[in-house]
Amino acid sequence: MIGIFDSGVGGMTVARAIEQLYPDLPYIYFGDLAHSPYGSKSREMLIEYSCRNTDFLLAHGAKIIVIACNSASSTASHCLTKNYPLPIVDVITPAVNKAARLSRNGRIGLIGTRATVNSGVYASRLQDIRPDCEIHSQACPLLVPLVEEGWLDRRETKMIVRKYLRPLRDKQIDTLILGCTHYPLLSKIIIPRIGKRVHIIDSSVEAALHLKSLLDADSSLYALLRAPAVENRYFVSDLSSPVQSLAASIFGRPVHLEKVDV
Ligand code: DGL
Repeated sequence: MIGIFDSGVGGMTVARAIEQLYPDLPYIYFGDLAHSPYGSKSREMLIEYSCRNTDFLLAHGAKIIVIACNSASSTASHCLTKNYPLPIVDVITPAVNKAARLSRNGRIGLIGTRATVNSGVYASRLQDIRPDCEIHSQACPLLVPLVEEGWLDRRETKMIVRKYLRPLRDKQIDTLILGCTHYPLLSKIIIPRIGKRVHIIDSSVEAALHLKSLLDADSSLYALLRAPAVENRYFVSDLSSPVQSLAASIFGRPVHLEKVDV
């Protein structure tokens, strides 16, 4: 079984991408809504939450952990990799690799939470593989609450997105990383505002493709994750009605969210 966690529903975009690639592999999802948003938390808190989330998923039989959250990936993935004896997939490295491959002019934009942008992890990983690139980052702290509220197509959300993207347009980026797993839910309003010629890198899809490359290379890992007749389960540490309907719209079907104390 695959274990996936995020601060809330954003990581469901990763779960959805994994499900499309591997409908036969069961997963357990944990959204830490009681502590959301992660993007405004300190590094210490994010490490603590990430360890707790990982313990919860392990106790439910996860054999691999997908950190479906850029804020947690940027601050805690190193610590999880060091302390847990199972594969850990984060959402950052696959997105950086794709951006480095696609950008022609070397001007790459990053939008993410404050935690992700301030960590500098995207910039340093990009420097390692394409030192000629410049990364232009924009923290967008208002977007996660708007998504969690289900305001995906509201006029106010469009105005805020336009304001956040303006400095990146001025830098003439040719590639934009959606460095938060909530943002694919806003891609319909992001794409026209950044310009259709800009490549959009979805960190959720790239993480799922990275998982696929791991499983393609290791058939024993694939066999370990298979658990026939086991249903996917979705746990949250707090539950409100907008979240319930947002989860259903992400998967295109009703999703039963189970509230747990972690
Ligand atoms: N979706 C998460 C991320 O990728 C968390 C956002 C948040 O809770 O602030 O960063």
